[in-house]
Amino acid sequence: MVTALPSRPLGHTGLTVSVLGLGAGRIGESGTTDADVDRLLGTALELGVTLVDTARSYGASEERLGRALQGRRGAVVLSTKLGYGVPGVPDWTGPAVEAGVDGALQRLRTEIIDVVHLHSCPREILERGEVVDALLRTVRAGKVRVAAYSGENDALDWAVCSGAFGVVQCSVSIVDQGVLAGAVPAAAERGTGVLAKRPLGNAPWRFDRRPDAPDVADAWDRFGALGLEQGGLPWDALATRFSAFAPGVTAILLGTASPDHLVAAARAIAAGPLPPPVLAAIHAAHARVGSGWAGRI
Ligand SMILES: NC(=O)c1ccc[n+]([C@@H]2O[C@H](COP(=O)([O-])OP(=O)(O)OC[C@H]3O[C@@H](n4cnc5c(N)ncnc54)[C@H](OP(=O)(O)O)[C@@H]3O)[C@@H](O)[C@H]2O)c1
Repeated sequence: MVTALPSRPLGHTGLTVSVLGLGAGRIGESGTTDADVDRLLGTALELGVTLVDTARSYGASEERLGRALQGRRGAVVLSTKLGYGVPGVPDWTGPAVEAGVDGALQRLRTEIIDVVHLHSCPREILERGEVVDALLRTVRAGKVRVAAYSGENDALDWAVCSGAFGVVQCSVSIVDQGVLAGAVPAAAERGTGVLAKRPLGNAPWRFDRRPDAPDVADAWDRFGALGLEQGGLPWDALATRFSAFAPGVTAILLGTASPDHLVAAARAIAAGPLPPPVLAAIHAAHARVGSGWAGRI
């Protein structure tokens, strides 16, 4: 039995989400069946998860979610990410965003998507205005509730300051602490919802050797450099509690295909924020070796 998950207002959007969100990247992978997705979503809903995040680029994730959400669409705040991948339309143009929203509505089998992010475009594209205007048109057209940006570094800073977005998504974890002194508090102060992606920092403790995938290898290098102590906690609980209770973070997006890992995250969140000495040691390690680390897209 897990205590009910806490919820928080998603900035000033009027939406409320559970602190634990389901990052639906892994369910897009080949080999996942509709039954797997149904089981994962069923566990999520039982735990009180009310936020699910997907993207155009996550394989079959949007289609599978669309099928699994039939009859229970109202139970979740549904988030996706786009801006590319529309056949015959150049990426990062107004038409790519507007047709992208129409495609996502179809794949997700819904009449409105709660949160739509521009998915990691660079700052220059944001500054050009075309894709931001197109996304805001889809909000005015009643196809999207909240316009959002997902990304890092100078593009994220621009997105937060622009005032165009009700939500931003960025990496927040023990190996992604840079934003906690910049974009995250700045967003929270403006009433912008903050979704923490990669909240376990890709769980680098799982690997005995440096992983092949460049983003996970980067996380593994950082984890080694931090040289953290576990403070008597399992690594997954420590990492989950760090991200879920980081000031300014509204919700974490746990990337998992495993119902057991969702339950573990809910249990960790039920234990509350990390003990102050453990938290202080994580911050101190980052200040010592990580202050120059860039945001991991
Ligand atoms: N906007 C972007 O560009 C972007 C980029 C990255 C991520 N995201 C979002 O953030 C979500 C999460 O990111 P992520 O998946 O890269 O990173 P993550 O959540 O930090 O790590 C996920 C990895 O950790 C494993 N894991 C989960 N719980 C675990 C546990 N208790 N013990 C050991 N391993 C565990 C998962 O595998 P299992 O399936 O085995 O649990 C998965 O391989 C994505 O699904 C997506 O929604 C967005």
